[in-house]
Amino acid sequence: MLEALGWSGAIALVSEDETGIAGYVLGRVVVDQAEILSIAIVPGRRRQGLGRQLLDGVLAAMMQRGAGTVWLEVRASNEAAQAMYQSAGFSAAGLRRGYYRQPPEDALVLRRELAAARVNPT
Ligand SMILES: CC(C)(COP(=O)(O)OP(=O)(O)OC[C@H]1O[C@@H](n2cnc3c(N)ncnc32)[C@H](O)[C@@H]1OP(=O)(O)O)[C@@H](O)C(=O)NCCC(=O)NCCS
Repeated sequence: MLEALGWSGAIALVSEDETGIAGYVLGRVVVDQAEILSIAIVPGRRRQGLGRQLLDGVLAAMMQRGAGTVWLEVRASNEAAQAMYQSAGFSAAGLRRGYYRQPPEDALVLRRELAAARVNPT
């Protein structure tokens, strides 16, 4: 993760309050394509809207940097993350067989377009 932070276009957001760090998200923008590399909330703080808050924050930052499409991979068995991404407008774009190790598992590829709200002057 520290290596990824050094990549050009890297975005990292942390969710923190007086009790400490509750989670983080790491993403990257390359020209008009963005990728969510990692997102996690500490187990005791899940289902409180923090994951979605971080996701919305990183999507806004990606859009601000000119990204038009966001991509990510998620374990086929990870129903919590898939439900969060679905609620944020991501949809299935493909399958990478055997993508994960330890334990081995397929990855679902999800995608979301980041259409900037068009302002109509008339
Ligand atoms: C995925 C993860 C980041 C979600 O974080 P979170 O803070 O618990 O998510 P939120 O509270 O913001 O939930 C947003 C929505 O996602 C869905 N969701 C989240 N956790 C869910 C679960 N366990 N089961 C079903 N739906 C779930 C729900 O639609 C939820 O909205 P709701 O609470 O109004 O029903 C968290 O479960 C996590 O850290 N998991 C381990 C790491 C991981 O899997 N990262 C993703 C790798 S791709």
